Amino acid sequence: MEKIIIKLQKRSYPIIIADKLFNDFSPCWPLNIGDKVVLITNDRVAPIYLNILRNLLTRSGIVTDQLILPDGEQNKSLITLNTIFTKLLKKNYDRSTILIALGGGVIGDITGFAAATYQRGIRFIQVPTTLLAQVDASIGGKTGINHILGKNMIGAFHQPIAVAINLDVLHTLSMKEFSSGLAEIIKYAIALDSSFFSWLESHLDDLLILHSPSLMYCIRRCCELKASIITIDERDQGIRSVLNLGHTYGHAIESYLGYSQWSHGESIAAGIMMAVNTALRLNQFNCSDAKRIKLLLTRAGLPVRGPKEMTSKNYLEYMKRDKKSISGQLNLVLPISIGNVKTVFNVNHELVSLSIEDTNSS
Ligand code: NAD
Ligand code: GLY
Repeated sequence: MEKIIIKLQKRSYPIIIADKLFNDFSPCWPLNIGDKVVLITNDRVAPIYLNILRNLLTRSGIVTDQLILPDGEQNKSLITLNTIFTKLLKKNYDRSTILIALGGGVIGDITGFAAATYQRGIRFIQVPTTLLAQVDASIGGKTGINHILGKNMIGAFHQPIAVAINLDVLHTLSMKEFSSGLAEIIKYAIALDSSFFSWLESHLDDLLILHSPSLMYCIRRCCELKASIITIDERDQGIRSVLNLGHTYGHAIESYLGYSQWSHGESIAAGIMMAVNTALRLNQFNCSDAKRIKLLLTRAGLPVRGPKEMTSKNYLEYMKRDKKSISGQLNLVLPISIGNVKTVFNVNHELVSLSIEDTNSS
C-alpha cells in the first residue's frame, strides 16, 4: 500500500493506492462506526463493485445507502445532479452524511459537485475506478457538470476527505477506457517530467498488460505530480493550468460531439497533438520531440487527429469559451520541450486554425 498526502492545511487528505483495497477495511478509510454514507455509482460499475464495497463498509459498522445513476458523459448534467439532491432530501440526509463516488471521472465530478453544494457543503470520498480518474480526476477538488454549450462549465472547488485507489478494478476496464487514462498520464509527462516521459516510452507495454508494479509506479508518479501542482495553486489561478495541456482543443471535440463517441482521453490525445502543432508553428518546439509524442500516443491506442467531421471553425467556436479565454482571446497551454510547458496568451486565431488543420492532415 502506498500513501500520498495532499497538503492543503485544513483540507489536507490522503491518497491511498493498493492492489486489493476492497478486501479488508483498513484505517485508510476515514470513517467511524455509525457514520452514514451514500455510495453514488452508475449502472455499469454497480453490478461489478457496488456490493463488494457496500458489504465491506456495512461489516465495519458504517450505515450505507446507494444511488445508481445512468452511465455516460452525457449524464454529467444538471438533470442527474438533481437526481442526487432529490435522493438526499427525500431520505432527510443531513450535513453529517458522507458521499462516496464509486466510478470514473464522471461519477467523481458530479458526486463531488453534489457534495460541494448539498446543504452548502458535505464531505465526500473518491473511489476512482478508471485509470483516468485514478491518475487525475479524483484528485484536486475540481467538481462539476457539463452544459450543452460547454464542457465543465458549471462547478466548484471542493476537496474530498480521501481518495482510495484500488488497482484491482482496472482489470474490468475496456481497452478504450484504459487508453483514455494513458492520455492524461502522457499529458503529465509532457507538461512536467521528461524522465517520466522516457519511463513511459520504455514501460508502456508493461502498463498495457496491467503489470502491477509498473501500474503502481505510474499511478503514484501521476498523483505526486498532481499533488505538487495543486498544493501551490489549488484554485487554478496560475500554474495549475499546465494540467490543461491539450484540454482547450479536446473540450471543443467533446462539446461538439455532444459528449458522446469520443472518450475524454481520446479527445485530449488529439488536443495534445494540436497543442504540439501550434507550438511548432510558433517555433517554440522541435520536430523530433513532436514525433516522440505522436509515437507514444499512437502506441497507447490513442487518436492523433481530431474527428473528421469537425472544421477548424468548429473548434474555435468552443475554444473561445474556454475558462482560460478572456474576451474571446485564446490563452493556450503549449509545450516548449518534453517536460516543460507554458501558457501563451492571445494566440492568433488563424495560426490555431492552421495548426488544427496540420494535425488533421498529417
Ligand atoms: P467515465 O467516468 O465515463 O468512465 C468511463 C467508462 O468506464 C464508463 O462507461 C464507466 O462506467 C466505465 N467504468 C468505470 N470504471 C470501470 C471499471 N472498473 N470497469 C469497467 N468499466 C468501468 O470517464 P473517465 O474517463 O473516468 O472520466 C472522464 C471525466 O472525468 C470527464 O467528465 C472529465 O471532464 C473528467 N475529469 C475531471 C478531472 C478533474 O480534475 N475533476 C480531471 C480529468 C478528467
Ligand atoms: N485536470 C486538470 C486539473 O485538475 O486541474
